[in-house]
Amino acid sequence: MTIIVTGGAGFIGSNFLFHMLGKYENYRMICVDKLTYAGNLSTLEPIMDNKNFRFVKLDICDREGVYSLFQEEKPDMVVNFAAESHVDRSIEDPEIFLKTNIMGTAVLMDACRKYGIKRYHQVSTDEVYGDLPLDRPDLFFTEQTPIHTSSPYSSSKAGADLLVLAYHRTYGLPVTVSRCSNNYGPYHFPEKLIPLMIANALADKPLPVYGKGENVRDWLYVEDHCKAIDLIIHKGREGEVYNVGGHNEMKNIDIVKLICKELNKPESLITFVADRKGHDMRYAIDPTKIHSELGWLPETKFEDGIKKTIRWYLDNKKWWEDIISRDYQSYYEKMYGNRGEA
Ligand code: NAD
Ligand code: DAU
Repeated sequence: MTIIVTGGAGFIGSNFLFHMLGKYENYRMICVDKLTYAGNLSTLEPIMDNKNFRFVKLDICDREGVYSLFQEEKPDMVVNFAAESHVDRSIEDPEIFLKTNIMGTAVLMDACRKYGIKRYHQVSTDEVYGDLPLDRPDLFFTEQTPIHTSSPYSSSKAGADLLVLAYHRTYGLPVTVSRCSNNYGPYHFPEKLIPLMIANALADKPLPVYGKGENVRDWLYVEDHCKAIDLIIHKGREGEVYNVGGHNEMKNIDIVKLICKELNKPESLITFVADRKGHDMRYAIDPTKIHSELGWLPETKFEDGIKKTIRWYLDNKKWWEDIISRDYQSYYEKMYGNRGEA
């Protein structure tokens, strides 16, 4: 079995590679990554010398490059994690989101059509469903919930999803799609809520909570997401969408307070800053389908997962301090420098 994993130098893709190489001795895993600001070769150090692993620096939009890799490697499966993934960046500059997330997906699927494939899996997001109101805790996203996006990021992911399902119907491409809720865990890039708050709290810097911090996200430990994808690519039905999430809804402000508590830092570090434009209120996944069809259930409880995650950031300061010391500084200044109060 040869599997191309795109975006494997990023947060979830790298965790997926570790999971797959650890579990399947005879699988050859090929990581394709452009190494954007979010991709880190240092993340892949633990597997670089593994005989079943190959790293290829490549843009998924580079049709010629992708075709020649397919010709050479003849993959059995493709799992597409590669994407521009940060909502705030998509609000500043949407274009690269359309290119990578939509065009890149089309190039990968065209290669699958040309060279043949057993499974193309699209790693998507619950954000394609838009958001839910705070005063209707009885509502959840199911696979039947209409697509209704808010940000350029989620719109680009929705565009890609529609294209993937269209390639199945039109060309019979054997596809699956997973739509997961917010992940957390090791190697999470420090522009995202949880690692940003951990890094700032450790430096006694202000903790910038958007708006009133009332927005709700449905957090899942990254390893549980990787196990779900592993199940879907092996046992999921072609042409199907699977929602992935573990009924773990939390308000942003409660997450930030919890991080303060775990790190023994004062809540006075919390600053309420101007809200994200078009900010989605609440995400909440109904995972009934993946549970009943494939037997998936999340294994890591949030109270354990967040402790493990904080421990990882304490034990791996070099990994994120290297990132923060690079051009991330100018990003931070641009996003938070003149943001103003909520
Ligand atoms: P990430 O930003 O940490 O990593 C993205 C990776 O893709 C990076 O290594 C980057 O270098 C690579 N990449 C970007 N553009 C590329 C291109 N044109 N060609 C090749 N490689 C490219 O993202 P993540 O948080 O690990 O998310 C991975 C996937 O999972 C994304 O598709 C995202 O939409 C989806 N997702 C993320 C979450 C979450 O909570 N992080 C939840 C649900 C779904
Ligand atoms: O739901 C899945 C999605 O989760 C993925 O598709 C995205 O790729 C991933 O980035 C994530 O999107 P969010 O926008 O939910 O994640 P983020 O970490 O950027 O923000 C989480 C919440 O915290 C959100 O309500 C905005 C808020 N926030 C975020 C940052 C970075 C703050 O209050 N302050 C911050 O500084």
